[in-house]
Amino acid sequence: LSKIEINLADVPEGKSVTFKWRGKPLFIRHRTAEQIAAARAVPVGSLRDPMSDEERCRNPSFLVVIGVCTHLGCIPIADAGDFGPGGYYCPCHGSHFDGAARVRKGPAPLNLVIPEHTYVGETGLIVG
Ligand code: FES
Repeated sequence: LSKIEINLADVPEGKSVTFKWRGKPLFIRHRTAEQIAAARAVPVGSLRDPMSDEERCRNPSFLVVIGVCTHLGCIPIADAGDFGPGGYYCPCHGSHFDGAARVRKGPAPLNLVIPEHTYVGETGLIVG
């Protein structure tokens, strides 16, 4: 399917849930207030692939990214690596991603990719 509809009520606060979209893993994280504040406090100019948290997460409570490492395509692990709960870690060659899935360390050249997505009503999300 080119588009999927997700019920955000299925993604508990503090968790990253993996869905499947166009044959790839799709990570949806329901961020805590603390995780949002930490991601928003990062100076954008210090980033390898500079993007503000506001640009990445239009709805600050949710992060929506394709779960494929931008280095060589492994699947990162949620809540692991230097950014602990809230981040992602790619075990293949050690790339660390922060609470907005921006690359902060390791060989990945770019942030995890954000697919087209639209929020619908209170709890709906369409990806694609
Ligand atoms: Fe992720 Fe190499 S594939 S660090």
